[in-house]
Amino acid sequence: MSAPNIETIVSLAKRRGFVFPASEIYGGLGSSWDYGSLGVELANNIKKSWWRWLVHERDDIEGLDSSIIQNRQVWKYSGHETTFSDPLVDCRACKGRFRLDKLQDVSCPKEQSANAGSGKECDLTEAREFNLMFRTTVGAVSAEDDESALAYLRPETAQGLFINFANVLNTSRRKLPFGIAQIGKAFRNEVTPGNFIFRTREFEQMEMEYFCRPEDAPHIHQEFIDAFQEWFYSLGISAENLKLYEQTKEELAHYAERTVDILYRFFPERDDEEKQFDELMGIANRKDFDLKAHSKKPEDREGKRINTDSNEDLSYFDEATKQRFYPYVIEPAVGVNRTLLAVLMDAYTEKTNDKNETRVILKLKPELAPIKVAVLPLAKNKPEIVSMAKDLKRQLLPAMRTVYDDTGGIGKLYARQDEIGTPFCVTVDHESLEDNAVTVRNRDTWEQERINVSELKNYLRGRLEK
Ligand code: GAP
Repeated sequence: MSAPNIETIVSLAKRRGFVFPASEIYGGLGSSWDYGSLGVELANNIKKSWWRWLVHERDDIEGLDSSIIQNRQVWKYSGHETTFSDPLVDCRACKGRFRLDKLQDVSCPKEQSANAGSGKECDLTEAREFNLMFRTTVGAVSAEDDESALAYLRPETAQGLFINFANVLNTSRRKLPFGIAQIGKAFRNEVTPGNFIFRTREFEQMEMEYFCRPEDAPHIHQEFIDAFQEWFYSLGISAENLKLYEQTKEELAHYAERTVDILYRFFPERDDEEKQFDELMGIANRKDFDLKAHSKKPEDREGKRINTDSNEDLSYFDEATKQRFYPYVIEPAVGVNRTLLAVLMDAYTEKTNDKNETRVILKLKPELAPIKVAVLPLAKNKPEIVSMAKDLKRQLLPAMRTVYDDTGGIGKLYARQDEIGTPFCVTVDHESLEDNAVTVRNRDTWEQERINVSELKNYLRGRLEK
């Protein structure tokens, strides 16, 4: 089972402290969201999993953390200043503003039954291009519109990786093929944000650029498409909720040779199965577009430098063949927030207890669970039990995130931990004081086992690693 719709997750997320609407006390801000104590842990665990799997375990990828605000030239030569825009239309009747290419996904506020633009009352303006980059000014400038101080909040983390290609190559002494990875915030002034954390104006990306010889690019591309599906499975996402989508020639970005998106079933409530899926990540073969675009050497047909502002040539010299060329790039780009939403939706399960009450269980993989173990005293008015439970929490804590909770009866405490995805509850009862053993309860099966305190840490460690 997984969540029946995003709304179920919105309500769980707010009720239990995963995600809150941002600026709520001032009426919110469109599509901004704040991550609460459990949400920030879950997001961190997703990012840790990606980083460990890609940067540490493969050993052919270096990490990087580049600036959010870069020299404006980065966005000029990447093409974002001229092409990073959406076609925008206004409706003179309902005053709505829509993306021309997404009219079928939004409804007209006046005619709820009709898709925007398709109703009797709709009166759309001509489309105009709207650049999605957030603008800002750098330094204490005199006027807000001072073009010389203009800068942008990055709309993707990728460009920070390309412009550091030579720095990383020279300092890490890597040879092709190798990759550079980073995790960080990106900003897009989306025309129609929405669907909770699916499309927001501020979000986080996990991007990697893998530099290789042109002839190796097609098979490396396919390897990453396969590997990323496996990574999503390792996060607990079921195969039936994932799907590959091959972008058509018309959809491909001008620099891309091939792009495959991994889609997740974010909208299971929709009748049309095709429309249930939307993009979770994209994996593109960007050819040599980016390194060339940021290099000082390439010339146009008339022999003029194309990039007149760069001080660097980002080509690669192959010692073996004595050839210099611009490497091709394979780019797997994942959104942290969309991954978090997919993980929550897929982990969502309902189970009926023996009193015929429905309980929510978040079957998160232990690696991702915000809290690994909750230690609960059966009687909070018994000082010896409380003290033993608090002691256990302290013992377990360095090895695994453990909390102590005595804020309700045991049934309520179990239900709360099930709902936030804690894999194990450890209960200290009267007998524990005699036999030095505790009850360990499994979140998914509700089975209980009696474990001696001296074996508890190893037992839990073993079960959490499974
Ligand atoms: N460098 C390539 C790039 O940025 P993208 O498909 O525009 O590609 C990659 O973005 C991923 O970032 C998407 O698949 C999605 O997971 C996430 N993403 C993009 N725009 C987003 C938004 N407005 N809100 C949340 N996540 C977003």
